[in-house]
Amino acid sequence: MKHERIEKNIGLMMVFITLVISVGALVEIVPLFFGKSTTTPVAGLKPPNAMQLEGRDIYIREGCHVCHTQMIRPLRAETERYGHYSVAGESVYEHPFLWGSKRTGPDLARVGGRYSDDWHKLHLYNPRDVVPGSNMPAYPWLWENTIDGSLTGRKMAALRIVGVPYTDEQIAGAQAKTDGQLEIEALVQYLQQLGTVLKHKR
Ligand code: HEC
Repeated sequence: MKHERIEKNIGLMMVFITLVISVGALVEIVPLFFGKSTTTPVAGLKPPNAMQLEGRDIYIREGCHVCHTQMIRPLRAETERYGHYSVAGESVYEHPFLWGSKRTGPDLARVGGRYSDDWHKLHLYNPRDVVPGSNMPAYPWLWENTIDGSLTGRKMAALRIVGVPYTDEQIAGAQAKTDGQLEIEALVQYLQQLGTVLKHKR
């Protein structure tokens, strides 16, 4: 029998196994290149403005993403706590994205608007002042460090190359918006817009 020949010939078996896995993988992967849902921004999505962009860089520099994900899974327990699950169209301007799966602290995908600016400032200055027992680190230097605005426009120009639709006007005006501002202001402005595009539509 033909099938017996394949089963007894390990070389032939390997060729067929490779073939089957390759076809299976391609069927899963290739449609993603053509699907629009992963590359189309959700309605109303705007790239982060100059201050929010600097805030995002501070967020990455301080390693906030090491303890906090920005990805709400489509599970009841998560949507009850955090709001609408995250969709790909919310992350199309994110380079790099900050999803992740390890949560030492809560997910922050929709933290925007949940607390006041003052709450965030107190919390980041010393988390224990507002959440007793918190093990989140304090970030007091964000009140001393100021932003070097000469780099903001260049960051926007670099992001534009990978498809983030910044205008020439935004790039030209970026330095004036960020130069000399305290880092805490930029970080809080970044946090306050997180996930708000979909949340407001709920
Ligand atoms: C070592 C892990 C760790 C790091 C690093 C960390 N956090 Fe947290 N974060 C936590 C924990 C734990 C909580 C929950 C307790 C609390 O609210 O303080 C929390 C809570 C928060 C909350 C409140 C979320 C909510 O829904 O109540 C915000 C906002 C936040 N963190 C922002 C940040 C930012 C911004 C940074 C970086 C500057 C950061 N965190 C770094 C562990 C961390």
